[in-house]
This record gives sequence, structure tokens and C-alpha cells, in this order.
Amino acid sequence: MIEQPTQSILIVDFGSQVTQLIARRVREAGVYSEIAPFTTAAAAFARMKPAGIILSGSPASVLDGDGPRIPQEILDSGLPMLGICYGQQALMHQLGGKVVPGDAGEFGRAFVAVQDDCALFDGLWQPGESHQVWMSHGDKVVELAPGFRAVAVSPGSPFAVVADDARRIYATQFHMEVVHTPDGARLLGNFVRHVCGLSGEWTMAEFRKTKIAEIRAQVGSGRVICGLSGGVDSAVAAVLIHEAIGEQLTCVFVDHGLMRHGEAEEVVGLFRGAFNIPLVHVDASTLFLGGLKGVTDPEAKRKFIGKSFIDVFEGEAKKIGGADFLAQGTLYPDVIESVSFTGGPSVTIKSHHNVGGLPARMNMQLVEPLRELFKDEVRALGRELGLPEIFVGRHPFPGPGLAIRIPGEVTRAGCDVLRKADAIYLEEIRNAGLYDAIWQAFAVLLPVKTVGVMGDGRTYDNVCALRAVTSTDGMTADIYPFDSAFLARVATRLVNEVKGINRVVYDYTSKPPGTIEWE
Ligand code: XMP
Repeated sequence: MIEQPTQSILIVDFGSQVTQLIARRVREAGVYSEIAPFTTAAAAFARMKPAGIILSGSPASVLDGDGPRIPQEILDSGLPMLGICYGQQALMHQLGGKVVPGDAGEFGRAFVAVQDDCALFDGLWQPGESHQVWMSHGDKVVELAPGFRAVAVSPGSPFAVVADDARRIYATQFHMEVVHTPDGARLLGNFVRHVCGLSGEWTMAEFRKTKIAEIRAQVGSGRVICGLSGGVDSAVAAVLIHEAIGEQLTCVFVDHGLMRHGEAEEVVGLFRGAFNIPLVHVDASTLFLGGLKGVTDPEAKRKFIGKSFIDVFEGEAKKIGGADFLAQGTLYPDVIESVSFTGGPSVTIKSHHNVGGLPARMNMQLVEPLRELFKDEVRALGRELGLPEIFVGRHPFPGPGLAIRIPGEVTRAGCDVLRKADAIYLEEIRNAGLYDAIWQAFAVLLPVKTVGVMGDGRTYDNVCALRAVTSTDGMTADIYPFDSAFLARVATRLVNEVKGINRVVYDYTSKPPGTIEWE
């Protein structure tokens, strides 16, 4: 059993869209937190032995007979608790107060008037002040449970914030985890520090030490194999595992020939050079590009690449004499068991390729040291481990690589053209100081030829599309609004410097309705 940090907060998820933000804010306050759905929260509570509990919002209603409930063990624990929106209603409902359907609900920005002091407001809000918050609720509390008093009100909520200092239970009708509640992060900080008495010492240096001990305990004298993709997650996982167990780790980098300019060399250089980590570099470009010949359907491309990746990886694992463990850079958002009120599986838009199919097929135990981390925390850990900034801060890159940025048939020549165009585009973005403000930027080589004129001659070459988006998790995205002088500069460079491109267009589609990648 892997040991958890002793100073932790358990977040009980009732299915709010923004529960993950609560976990992030608590961690930003230097305290480790985990999310558990209300259905399994009792088990998580027993395992984690947290110092405090936060109850999330929910689209459900406590007035529904079978609406989500706070597990009794948690309610009876005597630990500090913070209820947010539905969490407040559940507390009042289960502790003897009264909740009714709201007449109109309260959605969006609101102002609360502070009426009294409480530990949640310590050093932050004073009686008589008014503060902006974000509301989003239909039902409302009309009668407090015994022991509670109102400490802030809003026009729509007589119980915007309620407190029971003796039991250390606090609850707000508004959402303090979202940025639209400007003091929200500090209120959460007050809860974990002042109310729960946690010191806020959860840092990446601490995480690194704990994980190294855990990896050693898990692996013993076994052998570990790790597939590198060129991305941040697998690289950080590999460097951390290497620090723990040294030569017992072998990394395998399956180079499918669909990487960006200079990327394969960078991965090999970083691992073999700077970190001195044993690395098998397989140039499988002939196999991948050969197999993609004549394939134009996006899903067929994705499936072929995913399957071939597993075949090659498995072959290499056999060559090095097998391993007992498979290391993966799985992140926390992939393992959070979310509460779904929509029911049923969602439609598959794209079959994402990662090494997820490997463990079942290879019958190996997993080492996943990043399972508890969000992406930005993985980046912070990468920096802590000494990975260069250019590597750690890099935009995400899809498993199938350039193959899904060349609609239609993928050829080696097409990849070469796209690599050049992409490198110029990214260079201009870096030169303009915009790289870190963008979630992902890349070029797409279209299978469309248009007529142009260069010098005195006619050209008949491909169109290159440029894409740049902002996003927090890749689930939704907005286009990045470059100024036209910037786009004109990139277009000029691409047409002048990249043979095979004579026209450049900018993709103005947000997600939804578009997706980030073109295939
Ligand atoms: P879409 O195109 O679905 O992409 O809007 C969302 C995010 O996921 C990345 N992406 C992938 N990542 N394997 C990956 O590891 C894949 O097969 C894959 N397809 C898309 C994409 O780059 C974006 O960041």
C-alpha cells in the first residue's frame, strides 16, 4: 500500500463541473488533497485519514430522495468541514436544517455582505464589508442546522456563509474555487491552514522525496521499462524513477518518424547525455510510414499508429530480456473517478493513442509516480528534477504526431515540409514572447494545391494552415488572437523558406465545435 502524505484534505465530489478546481486551490495552499466521489468517499476517508473535508457542489438536489449524501462516517468524524454550494445544502439537510427549491436560483456574479467574524474570514474579510463572489444554485437553505449562524448574506441567500466554530464546520452558498470569486483561493487557504491547522508544506521537493522512497519500496530489485513519447509526462516519470532505482530502469523511445523538428534528437540527447539514463532508441519510421501508405481515414491512421507502437515496444521489451514493471506518466485527471449525472458513455470523437493498451497485453505491474499530479504540477516537478525549461514548458503533442496534422495520405516528403513549416511558426511565436501564453500552436499541411506567383514564375503548391489555441485542459479551447502583422510575417517566411508551400491560412475555429487537432 502506498503511503499518503499525513497532512491531507479529502474532497468529496458530488458531481460539480469544477470539483477539480477545489483540489488545485488546496494544493496551491501547500496542502495535499484528493478527490473521491461521494459513492466511495467513506473508503477514501478510511485510507487517507485526512485532516479536513471539503464537500463539493453538484447539479443534483438534496430534495430528491436519492440525491447524493455525505457518508455518515464523515459526518460523525468531528473533523473540520467546508461545504460549497450543494455541500452547504447537504450539510444543512443532514444536520437538521431546511433546504427548499429557490424561486429563481442565483447564477453568476453576486455580492455578499459580511455580518460577523469567523475563522474562514481570518485576516481577509471584516464585518461591514461587501465582497464579490460567484453563485450558481437553484435550491437554497432557509433554516440553519442547530449550532450554525449566518456570517455573510447576499440578496438571494440569507445564508451565503454559515459557521459553526465549535464544530469547525463552515459552508458557503457561493463557489470559492472559481476565479470569479476573487478572494476564493484565500478563503480556501484559511480553511486548510487556520481551521484544519495544516502547515502548507506540501512542495515538489517533498513530493520528490516521498515518491522516490515509494518507487524503491514498490520495485525492490525488479526491472522497469518506460516508453518515452517525447512529451513532458513520460520524461518526468522516467527521470524520477531513474533517480529512485538507477540502472534497473530502461527507457524505450519508439521514434515513429512523425515527431517535430529536432525532437527525437532532443529526447535522445537529454536522456543519454544530461541524465545518463539507459535509452533504447528505435528508428521505426520505415515501418510507420510504410504502413501509412495509402491510408487517408483519420481513425484508420490513429488505430494503425497505436497498434504498431505497441508491437514495436513489446518487441524491444523482449529484446532487453523483459521487465517486471511498466512505467507510465499517467496524470491525476486521468484517474479521477468522476461522478456522472449525464449517464451512459460519451461519444468517441477520436481514438486517442497513448500506451494505455500496453499493460493488459504485457501483463506487467504499473509504476505510475505522477498519478496524483495535475499537469502544471508535473511541470513543477520536472523543474525540480532539473529538466530544461524548453522541455518542461513544451506544448502538448499528440501520440500519432504529425500524421494527424497531414489530412489525407502521410508521406515522408510531406512530413519534412510540415516539420520545416512548424519549426518556423514556433520560432516566430517564441521570438514574439507568446509561447507560454498559448496552450498549443502548430502547422497543418493541407492536401490542397493552389496557384501562386513567385518572382516571374507560376507556383502550384500546398496550403499550410496555422493553428494556435488557449485552453486549460484541452477539453475546450479558444483561438489565439494573433495580430495580423504577426500572421503576415509568418506567412511570408513560410512561403519564402519552405519549398512546397505557397499559401498560408489561419484557423479561426474554437473547440467546440472544432477539435484542436485537425484529425
Ligand atoms: P483534440 O484534437 O481532441 O485534442 O481537441 C485535445 C488534446 O489532446 C491532444 N491529442 C492527443 N494526445 N494522443 C495524445 O496523447 C492522441 O491520440 C491525441 N489526439 C489529440 C491534442 O494535441 C490536444 O492537446
